[in-house]
Amino acid sequence: MSIRVGIVGVRGLSVIQALRDTPGVEVTALCDLDAAVLEQAAARWEIPRSYRIYGDMLAGPVDAVIVATPMQLHVQQTIEALHAGKHVLSEVTAGCSMDELFWLVEEVERSGLVYMMAENYIYTPEMQQVIAMAAAGCFGSLYYGEGEYLHNLDNILTYPDGRPSWRRWWQLGTRGLFYPTHSLGPLMKCFAGDRIESLVAMGSGWHTRQDLRQEDTSVALLRLSSGGMIRLRVDCISRRPHAMNNHTLQGTRGVYESPRTGGTHVVSLIPPGEDVDAATWQPLSDYTRYLPERYRKAPEHALRAGHGGGDYFIVQDFIDAVRGLKPPAIDVYEACEWTAVGLLSSLSVSNESRLMRMPDFRSRDRRDQITIL
Ligand SMILES: NC(=O)c1ccc[n+]([C@@H]2O[C@H](COP(=O)([O-])OP(=O)(O)OC[C@H]3O[C@@H](n4cnc5c(N)ncnc54)[C@H](O)[C@@H]3O)[C@@H](O)[C@H]2O)c1
Repeated sequence: MSIRVGIVGVRGLSVIQALRDTPGVEVTALCDLDAAVLEQAAARWEIPRSYRIYGDMLAGPVDAVIVATPMQLHVQQTIEALHAGKHVLSEVTAGCSMDELFWLVEEVERSGLVYMMAENYIYTPEMQQVIAMAAAGCFGSLYYGEGEYLHNLDNILTYPDGRPSWRRWWQLGTRGLFYPTHSLGPLMKCFAGDRIESLVAMGSGWHTRQDLRQEDTSVALLRLSSGGMIRLRVDCISRRPHAMNNHTLQGTRGVYESPRTGGTHVVSLIPPGEDVDAATWQPLSDYTRYLPERYRKAPEHALRAGHGGGDYFIVQDFIDAVRGLKPPAIDVYEACEWTAVGLLSSLSVSNESRLMRMPDFRSRDRRDQITIL
């Protein structure tokens, strides 16, 4: 029987091509509060049912829901979907408070249904290749990573009619790294099996915009259980061109650098005994043999879905999880840990950069774990 998917929030249409190209999947419903947007999108994509009320969509013929509404609705709408017996693919971030994250883990565990967070930056071909190279030991033992999300949000802080958008409050209305998952998720997939143990964060102060709680730039330093560390930066205010996808990875045998201001992804692999002074950068593309086979042999419809096949494969992974073929590629524990980095960083910057401990979302006594050290 085919899997019937409902989408809430029009951003979910970013994966509609992939859903339509997946055998045994039907997009049966679209839900959005904005009647004009809803009508236009449903007509364009020939989606048979459209709803303004989310609960009405959940009562209809859907088996799985893509939650792509503003961040502050993700947990509420995910829990409603789980209670209605639907699997969930949720946009980033997973939630907006630590309590919400605990609710989310509990409800996902209780439901036995699939929850996956749609952290799409993991799915670029370049990052898939770097993750595979890390797994193959090309960089040796990893001990350092950097991730940066530099994206000025001026143009989406207000709706066309001049009202402040949700981003004014739930993103730039908060302190700390409110949107960490694009920077962090890909790195944590390279540090496979590792956990974030603690973090400190600091903000640059308010220079460009005095009217927001968010500081121009926020930086966090994360300690991993392996002893390694990660530096993250989120900056959605500074006046500079966008650079949303910056990553660095350092291990005992080599390094990966993404192009920060254009150019190419590069690596330098320097086995023990080789002269470091003679080391050079090689394009990542010299090592495409590590690119997962499904990307190397991506069919036309996968490429058409967007982001070099990434938008297609994230959907495939979710649908495979719904079919019980494999676990969700970004499970609720990873989703909550990565999201909690932003929430704990907010507490850290507001408390003279105090060290915050990450709760272990997998543990039974996670609710009682202290967060401040
Ligand atoms: N993964 C990515 O690369 C990426 C990129 C952009 C946005 N996002 C995420 O996607 C989500 C949506 O962002 P956006 O930029 O599309 O926001 P947006 O404000 O442009 O659109 C949100 C949509 O949700 C609808 N909506 C709001 N409340 C609703 C409700 N209760 N029921 C039904 N519909 C409702 C609105 O009418 C609107 O059409 C956010 O969580 C954001 O973080 C992710």
